[in-house]
Amino acid sequence: MTVACIVLAAGKGTRMKSETPKVLHAVLGRPLFAWPIEAALTLEANPVVCVTGHGRELVDAALVSAFGDVVRCVHQLEQKGTGHAAQIGMTALEGFSGTVLILYGDTPLITAESLRALIDAREQAGAPLAMWTTRIADPTGYGRIVRDDKGQVTAIVEHKDADETVRAIDEINPGMYAVDAAFLRDALAGLSSDNAQGELYLTDIVARAAQQGAVPTVEVSAEETLGVNDRVQLAEAGQVLRHRINQRHMKNGVTMWDPARVVIEAGVEIGPDTSLAVDVTLRGRTRIGRGVTVMPGAVLTDTVVDDGATIHAYSVCEDAHMGAGAQLGPFGRLRPEAVLEEGAKVGNFVEVKKARLGKGAKANHLAYIGDADVGPDCNIGAGTITCNYDGFGKNLTVLGEGVFIGSNSTLVAPVTIAARAYVGAGSTVAQDVPEGSLAIGRARQENKAGYADRIRKRYQARKKRIADEKAGRS
Ligand code: UD1
Ligand code: CA
Repeated sequence: MTVACIVLAAGKGTRMKSETPKVLHAVLGRPLFAWPIEAALTLEANPVVCVTGHGRELVDAALVSAFGDVVRCVHQLEQKGTGHAAQIGMTALEGFSGTVLILYGDTPLITAESLRALIDAREQAGAPLAMWTTRIADPTGYGRIVRDDKGQVTAIVEHKDADETVRAIDEINPGMYAVDAAFLRDALAGLSSDNAQGELYLTDIVARAAQQGAVPTVEVSAEETLGVNDRVQLAEAGQVLRHRINQRHMKNGVTMWDPARVVIEAGVEIGPDTSLAVDVTLRGRTRIGRGVTVMPGAVLTDTVVDDGATIHAYSVCEDAHMGAGAQLGPFGRLRPEAVLEEGAKVGNFVEVKKARLGKGAKANHLAYIGDADVGPDCNIGAGTITCNYDGFGKNLTVLGEGVFIGSNSTLVAPVTIAARAYVGAGSTVAQDVPEGSLAIGRARQENKAGYADRIRKRYQARKKRIADEKAGRS
């Protein structure tokens, strides 16, 4: 069965109290709108039509960048109700035949499984329309599902149009439907705004479908249909999604010390036997291999970590790559385009930016390595700084294989230190160093015999004189 999808997302979202259109607020690394669309795409819905209105320039741009040409945007300039929005959505589905799924852009918790059940319910019954229903403790504000004495749905009545008897019904309309395209076109054409809100109600198509036969319903949990209207619900949705994502990874073989304290965004991949400590945050397109250890407080964004690597506590990585068995931190920082090759080691308070550390290379303490190409098995001593910036542009530092940089050295780029060279501690290296050479770039040491004792005596005498003068005065 061919499936298309209409996502209604023209509303303003006033209760978000935000400059940003509601559906652009992100949960777990994805804008709100992307969650229902992902669910629809799982069912191979194509095309997905998004009805946008408020903030449509921003929303359209975000939709296209997230989903490319699978998504078609159509505009509802004035919000005249869900029926009106659906009419506009259908203008992008001329000639389409099959099932049209109608969803809202602000319901991130809907699942592909429940949508599948909805589509199946319609198909199996051969009905023009199937809908979700749910039961909630406080149905205030929602459309109520009205059933006849045989239990068949006869209509949906909006809260504002409902009398006391109808308002007492706790079975509500979450607003998701699977509808035959031809039926939908006819039914939408027949809508009227003769109701309490003077709007075109999409819900009126249900009564019309009921005239043609039983309307199949699929009951889903209230949780799944949660609509995000304010920041409290945004956080609630975030918790549910985080729980679902973490469960999925644990079932795939990832250990978590405490899943309530791990945040993994939707697009992250993690291999089995990887262990995540508390307060770990994995963001964006981060990909982690097998048997990786991530210790407390690590934050990884768009970072690739190969098998068996270790990220010690409080390390931060962005757009970086750690090779197999590489180690970082504690308190390590990998900035964009940092690459640690297999077994390389970056220790505490070391910052690496746009630099490659070759296989087995080490920078264990307090260093800045930026715009550098560090050969395999190099050892970079504590306090080493690549001076990559001259106030105008960035320059490259190149270290050949097995170079040893003594502690507290400054490497003034552009500079090349060839294989197996040695740089004496405290050096400032501004000229290239040939292979196997020792570079010492600091003042030569001088020892003055007995001088320290002489200074000490002189200073002691001075201190005594001052104390005596003070005593004489008082
Ligand atoms: C609608 C249903 C109600 C249901 C409730 C569930 C109707 C008439 N009523 O009510 O039965 O219980 O959803 O949340 O359908 N939208 C547009 N353009 C519009 C109006 C709405 O795009 O002109 C979009 C909104 O952005 C939102 C969705 O449609 O994503 C629902 O709109 P909303 O105003 O919240 O619907 P309700 O009137 O609350
Ligand atoms: Ca609503």
